[in-house]
Amino acid sequence: MCGIVGYIGNRSAIEPVIEGLKALEYRGYDSAGISIIDKNNAKLIKTAGRVERLSEELSGLKESYGLAIGHTRWATHGSPTKANAHPHTNSKGNIFVVHNGIIENYQDLKQFLIKKGYRFKSNTDTEVIPQLIDYHLGKTKIFLEAFKQTLRELRGAYAIAAAYQDDPRNVYVAKLSSPLVIGVGKHEHIVASDISALGSDTKKVFYLEDYELAVVSSDSLRIHDYKKSMDITKNPENIQVDSKETSLGDFPHYMLKEIFESPQTVQSAIVGRIKPNENIVKLGGLESVANQLQYIDRIIIVACGTSYYAGLVGEYLIEEVAGIPVEVQLASEFKYRKEPLSRSTVVIAISQSGETADTIAALNKVEDYGILRLGIVNSVGSTIARMTDAGVYCHAGPEKSVASTKAFIAQVTVLAEIALYLSNGNSSLYKPVVNELVNVPTKITEILRQSEKIKKIALKYSKYRDFLFIGRGYMYPCALEGALKLKEVSYIHAEGYAAGEMKHGPLAMIERNFPTLALLPNGNLFEKTISNLEEIHSRKGPIIAIHSQKSRVQMNIEDSIEIPETIEQLQPLLFATVLQLFSYYIAVDKKLDVDKPRNLAKSVTVE
Ligand code: AGP
Repeated sequence: MCGIVGYIGNRSAIEPVIEGLKALEYRGYDSAGISIIDKNNAKLIKTAGRVERLSEELSGLKESYGLAIGHTRWATHGSPTKANAHPHTNSKGNIFVVHNGIIENYQDLKQFLIKKGYRFKSNTDTEVIPQLIDYHLGKTKIFLEAFKQTLRELRGAYAIAAAYQDDPRNVYVAKLSSPLVIGVGKHEHIVASDISALGSDTKKVFYLEDYELAVVSSDSLRIHDYKKSMDITKNPENIQVDSKETSLGDFPHYMLKEIFESPQTVQSAIVGRIKPNENIVKLGGLESVANQLQYIDRIIIVACGTSYYAGLVGEYLIEEVAGIPVEVQLASEFKYRKEPLSRSTVVIAISQSGETADTIAALNKVEDYGILRLGIVNSVGSTIARMTDAGVYCHAGPEKSVASTKAFIAQVTVLAEIALYLSNGNSSLYKPVVNELVNVPTKITEILRQSEKIKKIALKYSKYRDFLFIGRGYMYPCALEGALKLKEVSYIHAEGYAAGEMKHGPLAMIERNFPTLALLPNGNLFEKTISNLEEIHSRKGPIIAIHSQKSRVQMNIEDSIEIPETIEQLQPLLFATVLQLFSYYIAVDKKLDVDKPRNLAKSVTVE
C-alpha cells in the first residue's frame, strides 16, 4: 500500500528517498511523487507510473537538495492519476505533504476550506492537510503550531510527512494508527512508513507512537505528544535486521522463490523451540506471560486474509491439542462486534506484515479490557509486534510477493507450537506432533521436487473460469486458502468449501466446466470426502485430487497429485504447498503480474 520516505541531512536527499521508495515498491502502488527542497528552491515531481520514472525525471537535476519527501500511492480516494499522486500542496505551492491512511472527515474539512476560498486540484482526502496547515499558518505564523492544530482536526488514520519551503531545515512528521519511523544517521535522519525503506546503513530508529509528532532536522529531533501537549524524551532502538536474502536469485518471481523457501521457513520457525529428543517445546516469546496463560479459558484469534485462514487451522490445532476453545474472527468484523469478553480470554493477532490496519484496530479495541494480547507476526519490530504483550515471531524472513505463501506455512507452524505449549505436555498428540514437525521440511522438499508435474496439471486447467476447493477438518481452512490464492494471482473465480457442505448448495454449480480441487488426506474423514467426490464425479465435474499414498482415489478422476504421508494436524503444511504452486503456475500461464496482482497491496494499512 502507500509508502512514505523523507530525508533531511548533509548529502543529496534524492538518492535515499528514491532508494527507500524502491524498497517499498513490492507493497503495491499505482503512482509516485517527490518534493525536493533547498534554500529558496522547491520542486514537485509526480508520475502516474513507477518510481523508476521519477528517478529518470530527477536525473537531469544539477542542484543538490538537502530535504526530500517521497511517496508511493495506492489509490483509495480518486483514481491513480498524476494529480492524485502525492505530495500534495497548498494553493501557494509552498507546503508539501505525503500521507498514508485515510482522513475520514476530509469532506467536512474540504467544505470548510472551500468556503474560506481554498481551491482543490485533486480528488484525494490528503489534499485537505496542506490546505489546512496553510489556513492555520495564516493565523499562527508558526509552521509547527499550524501543523499541530491541523493534526488535532484530522479524524481517521494517518502517517504524515510535511515540509515547508520557507523552513528547509526541518521535516515534520506525525502518526495515528499508521506506522512511522525515524532512522538516525550521521548528520541525517530518514523518515519512513517502514524500516525496510531506511537503507542498510541505518542502525538506529525511533518509532513514533499515536498522537506523536516530530520535528526532524539533520542533527536533532524533537518529539511532541500533541494530544497531551508535552515534549517526549525517548531513546532510539537498534534495528533488528532480518539478514535473509531478499533478491530473486535464479527465480523468475518472488512468489515461486518464497514457496521454495518453505522447508527453510518451517526449519526457522522450529529451531530452538522444538526439541524432540527432550520432548520439549520452548517459546521464549511467551515466557513473560506464562503464568497468565495457565488461567485462560478462551482464545480469540483475529487476522485478515491468509493469516485468518492460518488462524482457522490454529483453531483446529489448539482445540485438539490443548483443549482450549478457540474462535477465529476476521479482524475487520471483530472491531465492531459487541460481544462479552472476560479477562480469562486471550486475543491472538496473526499478521505477516504486522501493519494490517484492521488487525491493529482489533487489538486497539481490547486495549483497555485487561485482556492479554499476543502476536504471531513475521515482520520484526512492526506495529503489531510492538503493541502486543508477548508473542511468537514467525521468522519466515521478508515476504515480497503480495500473495502470502511461506508466511502461511510459518504461521501454521507457530500455531502448532503454541498448541503444544498450551497443552503443557498433557496431550496424547504432544509427542507425535513434536516428532513429526521436524520431518515436515523434508516432506515439503519432496513436494517441491514434483513442481513440474504440478505445473503440467495447472496448465491443463488455466483456461477454466471457475474453481471449487473442498476439504474436511484441517483441510477445510486449506481449501479456503487455496481458493484465495487462485483468486488473487490468477483472477479466476474460486470458492473454498467444507466438502460436507456440497449437497447444501454448491453442488448445483457442478458441470463439466467447473473443476474441483479435492484435498484428500489419509484419515478418518477420507471416506466421507470420497462420497462427496462421487457426487461431483457423477455430475461430470472434473476432479483434481491431492492425496497421499494411503488415500488414493479409486474412481476414474481427471488428475491426481500424490504427496507424502504426515499426521493429520500437520497436513495443512504439505497441502498448502501444492495449492500455492498450482495457483502460481496458472497465473504465470495467464501472463499475469504474479508478484503484484492488480488492485492488491502487500500491506493493507487502511481499514
Ligand atoms: C495473502 O495472500 C493476501 N495478500 C492477504 O490476504 C493477507 O494475508 C492479508 O492482507 C493479511 O496481511 P497480514 O498477514 O500482513 O496481516
